[in-house]
Amino acid sequence: MTGITTTDLVKRFDDVTAVDGVDLNVREGEFLVLVGPSGCGKSTTLRLLAGLESPTAGAVEIADEDVTTASPSDRDVAMVFQNYALYPHMTARENMTFGLKTATDFSADAVDDRIAEAAGILDIEDLLDRTPSALSGGEQQRVAIGRALVRDPEVFLMDEPLSNLDAKLRVQMRAELAELHAELQTTTLYVTHDQVEAMTLGDRVAVMYDGEIQQIAPPQQLYDAPETRFVAEFIGSPGMNTVEGTLKRRGDAAHVTWGENSLSLPSAGAVKPYAGDRVVLGVRPEDLTQEMGGPLSMEVTVTEPLGDSLLTRGVVGDTEMEVSLPPRSAVDVGDVLSLTADPQRLHLFDIETGAALYHSAETVGSDAAEPPVADTQRSTT
Ligand SMILES: Nc1ncnc2c1ncn2[C@@H]1O[C@H](COP(=O)(O)OP(=O)(O)OP(=O)(O)O)[C@@H](O)[C@H]1O
Ligand SMILES: [Mg+2]
Repeated sequence: MTGITTTDLVKRFDDVTAVDGVDLNVREGEFLVLVGPSGCGKSTTLRLLAGLESPTAGAVEIADEDVTTASPSDRDVAMVFQNYALYPHMTARENMTFGLKTATDFSADAVDDRIAEAAGILDIEDLLDRTPSALSGGEQQRVAIGRALVRDPEVFLMDEPLSNLDAKLRVQMRAELAELHAELQTTTLYVTHDQVEAMTLGDRVAVMYDGEIQQIAPPQQLYDAPETRFVAEFIGSPGMNTVEGTLKRRGDAAHVTWGENSLSLPSAGAVKPYAGDRVVLGVRPEDLTQEMGGPLSMEVTVTEPLGDSLLTRGVVGDTEMEVSLPPRSAVDVGDVLSLTADPQRLHLFDIETGAALYHSAETVGSDAAEPPVADTQRSTT
């Protein structure tokens, strides 16, 4: 097993708790992405795994070995940093060789073979004799990855390796990293604050907030069934709309109201038992549509043509919401739109704790869900 396991990992700096009881399990061969806002503790977690920081409490296991107190050189990990950390006075080749010579006892021939192989994979054969100042950002990044690659470690740790690249190169390098991982299958923990990068690269994604892991799940599951309000708002571009409202139940029917607005929940019997009636309703911008006489009324404040959609922001009741409309929709600032939501794409969260209470999609196909009889009849007549 070459996985990584942390158990109740804690790191405090004076009065800041950067990592607050993290249980993380990166499976053998997995590409796990750790994502979260700035300052939530991602880099500190990675540095604890690499041995560059020592934990205040908790344990780290790599490849079934307890390395909690092991020095960085005694851990079979290779780290790639955001700023590349290349030695400016060394050529690309020397930068790649340097770690190999100090960390291992390879013969000169074996070193040359490994450099040639890594350079081939990363397409940097022609750049090996240049120093970093003669390389572009993307090329320097490849050399930094090459330096990690030649070590052939049990585990790769990557801390925002693409964040210094321009948007186009970032997308290209992202695809190359995915290919590289498919080929090498090295266990990888990859840190980013970019949720699109997280969703596209991760076999699973761990969402971190304020030193804690909020949820670890495959990308689609994070999007479809966020376990907390934070995950719902963080994942997606833009994230989920959340509205504080009042839950009214009558038998298996229920709806959430705020101001003059109201949305009904299908098979509301599935809502977890909940004290009180104030809740947070969640609905994604792409699950709202314009409909004459729809239950929501939005006064438009901003429109953003994104090409493939018209992202429209406005106020519903007294809550800001966003709706993703078809491109070229005739909508202007000040317009009042009637909107409706896909009933199978509604979410409820606890107003105090933010914990998920209900995802309407999960009621589909279950015994509790009633088939939409009225709709079926309408479409066949
Ligand atoms: N050496 C240190 N001394 C004191 N506080 C620190 C130290 N390193 C990190 N911190 C604090 O710990 C918290 C987590 O920092 P960390 O660098 O892990 O965040 P991050 O998630 O990587 O953020 P970013 O996305 O901005 O890189 C922050 O509040 C930071 O100020
Ligand atoms: Mg960081």
